Amino acid sequence: MNKSILLFLSVLSLGVVSCSTSTETNKPKPQEEVVIYDSTDFHTYSQKKDAYVTHLNWDAQVDFETQIITATATWDFINVSDTDTIVFDIVDLNITKVTLDNGQETGYSIGQTKAHMGAPLYVAITSETKSVSISYESAPTAGAVLWLNSQQTYGKKHPFMFTQSEAILARTWIPCQDSPGVKFTYNAKVKVPTDLLALMSATNPQEKNETGVYEFEMNQPIPSYLLALAVGDLEFGSLGDRTGVYAEPGQLDASIYEFGETEKMVQIAEELFGEYAWERYDLLVLPPSFPFGGMENPRLTFVTPTIIAGDRSLTALIAHELAHSWSGNLVTNANWNDFWMNEGFTVYLERRIMDSLNGTDYSDMLSILGSQDLAFTLTDLPKEDTRLKLELKGRNPDDGMTDIAYEKGFFFLSMLKEEYGKKRMDNFLKQYFTDHTFKNITTEEFITYLDRHLTGQDSLKRPKLMIEKWIYESGLPQNAPEFTSERFQRVGSSMKAWTDGAFEIDEIEVADWSTNEWLQFLRKLPDTLSVNKYAELDKAFHFTQSGNNEILAIWLEKSILAKYTKVDAKVEEFLIHVGRRKFLTPLYRALLEVDPKGKHAMYIYMKARPNYHSVSTETLDKLLNYSH
Ligand code: BES
Ligand code: ZN
Repeated sequence: MNKSILLFLSVLSLGVVSCSTSTETNKPKPQEEVVIYDSTDFHTYSQKKDAYVTHLNWDAQVDFETQIITATATWDFINVSDTDTIVFDIVDLNITKVTLDNGQETGYSIGQTKAHMGAPLYVAITSETKSVSISYESAPTAGAVLWLNSQQTYGKKHPFMFTQSEAILARTWIPCQDSPGVKFTYNAKVKVPTDLLALMSATNPQEKNETGVYEFEMNQPIPSYLLALAVGDLEFGSLGDRTGVYAEPGQLDASIYEFGETEKMVQIAEELFGEYAWERYDLLVLPPSFPFGGMENPRLTFVTPTIIAGDRSLTALIAHELAHSWSGNLVTNANWNDFWMNEGFTVYLERRIMDSLNGTDYSDMLSILGSQDLAFTLTDLPKEDTRLKLELKGRNPDDGMTDIAYEKGFFFLSMLKEEYGKKRMDNFLKQYFTDHTFKNITTEEFITYLDRHLTGQDSLKRPKLMIEKWIYESGLPQNAPEFTSERFQRVGSSMKAWTDGAFEIDEIEVADWSTNEWLQFLRKLPDTLSVNKYAELDKAFHFTQSGNNEILAIWLEKSILAKYTKVDAKVEEFLIHVGRRKFLTPLYRALLEVDPKGKHAMYIYMKARPNYHSVSTETLDKLLNYSH
């Protein structure tokens, strides 16, 4: 008996969950379950060395009443080791039937559920089996999915639902081999209420139809964390030949204006990094509960409506998500320990795009703001979590999703750019994407590639780069580049003149300030600034009424800490309305700092929590010590 049969039988013996057909009569004596992890990815139960999937055919119905997705997932796979068991990841999926490609029902069993990981689903196969069909229902509590009632949408007339699969939440709505190291193509047929439109990370419809049935195709291989679905009252607006935006009708015009530079960004990105591999690039504007700024779902980036500022000032985020079409979606981190290979590269690419679009003085301001975030994160996190290459075994991969991956990763690549020059670095990256198209990469494979194509050629210079220190050690190496900005220096002098009393507030020259200058100004407000000064600022610049959510969020945080109580109502409104974790965490932290018992914070949280996605509640439940 080979190892996988043993594994299969040993888990069947637990009798944790039913199985069907003849295997049931054949149960061996109970014994302890042995969980075998894939040694290349500790966040999946699936065993790609034995059998890995290549294509998904997903047939689903979305029911807003019950908040359940009823579906059949048919997976084509390659049986590498002639195994008799294929393993999938699931969380709280109610499996109703599993059949093989010969139409026969087959035995399956579900192992123990572990925190964050969910459970393994073991399916019995034969050496002839090429595909399995898993029929199931998702749980209303599925971690990836947020079900919103009509009041939680812009139009307030129709419900809305969306998924967020990264990092390991795809398994809460589709049984899958939930590892970034397993890539597959997919097609889907999804039935939704006829007044709503369904969209996926695939070819998408541009308008509703009478049947409520929509079909999708994704012909380029993707990892499971890029599976995405959204259903709502959505309309399409074109932005260019191959770009467009979906939004609720009331937000469509504003979205078309805000994201008007998208087509140009795609052109810039193609010049820098090589051909765009995904045909179309569309955006989907979600309700404000969306837990992130953006998510790079292929062909259809999901974005928060909080970047609609009315003046295109927050679109670096689009450059970021677009850049993932190369770093992340085309060349993917092999597992979550290599997360910086997705995000650090993407921040670097994002700033290269913004450099071309708005000039170096603009992208340098972004880098300086990023370095401030990094400085904070370096003091905030335990030392071992400040390495680029992480060790997340046994932990929630979300623990690694910090500014270390983003900003330390960016500074590492910027250091190489300083050493080798923009042009050589651009060429190196372009080649890197070509050589790894639709593949995965580990940090170690990257170092080897880097040495072969860039850094290994000069053996005297190589040690000075401190590559291993950057990647395997904590903190920030001394050769981290420093960015300077004349525009920020001017902000600094104005601030000083005003706080010293040399300037009246209306003498500060703000006419040509971008959002970056405003953020720098607000971040650098002295901690000692009086409440009166806050009032003066608010009167002059109307921060509490700002339609720019980046500016508003930092203003509210500073005001809470300074006890400028005029913002109180706005803080409550903002926290109830917006579910973007990046804004929520600092605001709740500030509330806790001024009132450590957390009564006020909890009062707001109880009202706001139903609007938040599980990504946000996971973090905030811990911060606020909330148990349910
Ligand atoms: N892929 C991330 C979002 C993400 C990270 C989801 C980790 C789940 C786990 C996305 O590309 C991202 O980085 N979003 C940022 C954008 C910002 C850096 C411009 C965000 O949402 O704030
Ligand atoms: Zn990203």
